[in-house]
Amino acid sequence: MNDPLIASLIRAVESAPEEHELRLHLAQQLHQANRAAEALTHINIVVQKDPGNTVALQLLGQVSAALLGNAADATAPVTEPEKPTQAEQPDFDWDAAAEQFEQSVPAPFAEPKIEMGECSGGAVPEEPVGERITLADVGGLQNVKDRLNESFLAPMRNAAIAKAFGKSLRGGLLLYGPPGCGKTFVARAVAGELQANFMAVTMTDILDSHIGETEKNIKAVFDKARSNAPTVLFLDEVDALGLRRGSLSGSASWLRQMVNQLLMEMDSLSSNNDGLYVLAATNHPWDLDEALLRPGRLDRAVLVTAPDGPARESILRYHLERRPIAGIDLKWIVQRTDGFSGADLEHLCTTAAEKAMMQSIERNEVLPVDMTHIQLALNEVKPSTLPWLESARNVVRFSNENGRYDELEAYLIARKLM
Ligand SMILES: Nc1ncnc2c1ncn2[C@@H]1O[C@H](COP(=O)(O)OP(=O)(O)OP(=O)(O)O)[C@@H](O)[C@H]1O
Ligand SMILES: [Mg+2]
Repeated sequence: MNDPLIASLIRAVESAPEEHELRLHLAQQLHQANRAAEALTHINIVVQKDPGNTVALQLLGQVSAALLGNAADATAPVTEPEKPTQAEQPDFDWDAAAEQFEQSVPAPFAEPKIEMGECSGGAVPEEPVGERITLADVGGLQNVKDRLNESFLAPMRNAAIAKAFGKSLRGGLLLYGPPGCGKTFVARAVAGELQANFMAVTMTDILDSHIGETEKNIKAVFDKARSNAPTVLFLDEVDALGLRRGSLSGSASWLRQMVNQLLMEMDSLSSNNDGLYVLAATNHPWDLDEALLRPGRLDRAVLVTAPDGPARESILRYHLERRPIAGIDLKWIVQRTDGFSGADLEHLCTTAAEKAMMQSIERNEVLPVDMTHIQLALNEVKPSTLPWLESARNVVRFSNENGRYDELEAYLIARKLM
């Protein structure tokens, strides 16, 4: 970080911002020092002013490849190669780059593959691995963050104060909402905040077709969580298990047993289990067994909706700033993406990058992602939250006697969908 050559180059560039050659020299040094994101910023400045600058474009290709995790290109300097093996490929390798891009679509940067933990055969899931994110990385969703904070983040961090107020860590919270709006992402952020005190399980992973195995898995998960208390146990896609018992036919009695096991484990939350908090996520809360939503179990629910304007801006920025870009008008995109989920926005960015890549391959030069690519992508990627909201409307109309979906109702009214 404190490379004196780079430091003096930065000062030089600051005092002579129009010197493209100097700026590219700095970019190259940054690239060699594995500071690809900073290198990219400088290359972008040059490409915007001088789109035909071949040195800039060549360097752009290398830095993009490095950002995409292409180890071979990651440290290869534009001119003098460091290692003899790299000297054998002095030119930017188009085929490799194209392949690299293609492999990275649809999700090159944003969602590092997270293993929620295999849990068959009674195994207990491991903590999620991957890039650590925190709540600061989650765009918008202030209502969700506030609720998480008061339910367990603040009490866990201030155990003594919480105790004085008679607040023990127990209970559960259900995150619900349309697909792709950040339920799993928020839970990963909670994991990032809590680290050792967080356990994540995807319900579909613990379903086992062997009689009795799923119940054993559920018990093992809860036992491990209890032994690590205070712990937040995250049950993702909880609807996979928490189906309405009434809707199960006789042949599905094994499923009923699993639901019962889950209920039993949740009940021990209110008896012998101080220090265990269950966070669950679903996009079909109305399919959950009523019993799961009773007091002491998942008795609170919080709606995770599509991101609002500022949240969309931060999500778009997150996905775009790691790519070679030029002249991106974030405000314009934000205005045209109302109703897009976080996942839709991510898809929009990867689609635009794909367009730029294909154009680059056609022209045999690296073109940064610009607004024309974004516009092309916008023709293809449509907001996906509307169908969910429409089906949710019926639930609010016909089965909200207990006020459980008041937050959803207010949201639908605010969006003029009711
Ligand atoms: N509020 C947000 N801030 C930043 N990124 C977000 C946000 N919401 C969604 N994303 C992005 O969209 C991706 C998909 O979100 P996520 O998987 O959390 O959705 P989900 O609500 O769990 O959907 P599903 O109901 O289909 O499981 C995330 O990995 C993240 O990259
Ligand atoms: Mg999810």
